[in-house]
Parts: sequence; structure tokens; C-alpha cells
Amino acid sequence: MPRTAYVNGRYLPHRQAAVHIEDRGYQFADGVYEVVPVYQGTLVDEELHLDRLERSLGELRIALPMARRALKLVAAEIMRRNGLTNGFVYMQVTRGVAPRDHKFPRKPVRPAVVMTVRQTRPLAPEVLEQGIKIVTLPDIRWQRRDIKSTSLLPNCLAKQQAYEAGAFEAWLVEPDGLVTEGASTNAWIVTKDGKLVTRSASNSILNGITRISLLKVAAAEGVEFEERAFTVEEALEAREAFITASSIYVLPVTEIDGRPVGNGHPGMLSRKLREAYIERVARTGTFRAEAAA
Ligand code: PDD
Repeated sequence: MPRTAYVNGRYLPHRQAAVHIEDRGYQFADGVYEVVPVYQGTLVDEELHLDRLERSLGELRIALPMARRALKLVAAEIMRRNGLTNGFVYMQVTRGVAPRDHKFPRKPVRPAVVMTVRQTRPLAPEVLEQGIKIVTLPDIRWQRRDIKSTSLLPNCLAKQQAYEAGAFEAWLVEPDGLVTEGASTNAWIVTKDGKLVTRSASNSILNGITRISLLKVAAAEGVEFEERAFTVEEALEAREAFITASSIYVLPVTEIDGRPVGNGHPGMLSRKLREAYIERVARTGTFRAEAAA
């Protein structure tokens, strides 16, 4: 099936889909995005992703490009046209096209909307069996990490550095030694006494939708949790560690900077939470693509 993209009101063959060279997203990274997971034909936590999209747009004073209902229809249509069953919908909204000038355009311009999909394969079983490696790096990003901005250069640099070191992800660390989050994931540990810990939502991190949902899953499972920052040392002394994001759900961390976490194997609670999270996703996806066809 040929890939189709949505660009500013039109469904186009993926290869021909393009935006203007003076789009402010292209020139200034003046835009925001969402990655909404699709599990067996169902968009996961769509409302929460759209809430965050609206919030990010509001923080940057970019107008909502269309009503939420219309965004949902486009998402369903792009899934249908691409026959998407498992993967994600990528949504991006930029301030729009205007002659290059750092200030916002004086006359209102139409925000540019792009939606694409990506089919993904299930994770290789050995990733779940062995867990992943993390490296720690200084967090060199701006102070508004709560906005899901397309300005991801420090994240890309960190991810590349992790990749070159043979790691799956980089945990970003502030000068005070506290971990903020991963380059594209939220960071979690399970303390020796079995308490789940993840940083509280603030301007310091992106408040992951998987993070929000997993806290609900943890509460439902009767797992005690604490929202607070932790250091790399605390993570190394923890019983377990893991990461979360829409694209990977929950992934166990078994090594940080070449040192084992816990006994060096994926932890029991990480596994239990991953299973409970996927079970919840399968049960409560918010929208069926087939229904929109
Ligand atoms: N990344 N922190 C950062 C910096 C992220 O970029 C992401 C998501 C998360 C997890 O958020 P969520 O659970 O809503 O996916 C945390 C997406 C997947 C990306 O940029 O591709």
C-alpha cells in the first residue's frame, strides 16, 4: 500500500508531501508535535495527546489549526489510508509560513499541519529479555521541556552519543546530579524497598502520556509510587530501572554507564507494569480506525 501523508488539508503520496521553505518550523523549529501510539488499529490515549498538543500550542501562542474533532478525523483517515494497525501517528503543527523574522508574523498566518503514520514491528524479544543500556549525559536543553517542541537538537545529539556508545538511550542529568529524563523517554527507578520513583511533572521534563497512564496503572495495581527527582547514584543502587514512551511503552534498563542496575536483569515490577500497561492499552484504546472508514 503506497504511503500517504496529510499536509495542510491535502492527502498526498508520502514522497510528494512537502512544506514551504519559509515554514517557521523549518527555519526556527517554531512548532510542536505529538507521537500517538496505535495498538491493533486503535489510537492510544488520543485525548491525552490532544490535550498536550493544545497545551504546547497555547504555550507558544500558536493558534489551534482546526477543531479537535477535525484533528481526530484526519488522524483516523491517515490511519485508514495507510492501513495502519501497529505503530504511531505523527502530528506536527508549526506557526506557518512567513518571511524570515524572529518575531511572530504581524499578520496572522495559518498554522501548518502535517500528519504521517509509521508502521512498527514488535520489539525484538531479546530487548525485553536483556533490558537496555543507558549512558548519562549533561542536560543541555532549554528550560521549557514541558512543551513538546520540534526543537530537538540536544535530544538528537544525546541519542546519537548513546547510540555510538552502544546504548539505547541517554539519561540527561542536571548540574545538581539529578536525572531529568531520557532523550526521548521518561526515566523511572524502583527503590530497594519496592517504591516506584519518577520525576514529578514540571518545566524540567516532558510530562509523558505513557508516564501519566503508567502512574494510573501503578495505582490500580496497588504499587506505591513517589513523584520526585533521583540521582544517577540512586538509580545505580536501585532494584530496577526502566524507561517509558509512546513508541516503546515500558522498557527495562539493566545497565547505566557500564554498571549493572539491580542484579543486571530486567526487574519483576518493570515486567509486571509493562504487561499491565499493554493490557490496559488493549482494553481502553480511545478510537477505532475501522469505525471511521
Ligand atoms: N518522545 N521525554 C521526552 C523528551 C520525549 O521526547 C518523550 C516522547 C517522552 C515520553 O512521552 P510520551 O510518553 O508522551 O511518548 C519523554 C516521542 C516518542 C518522540 O519524540 O518520538
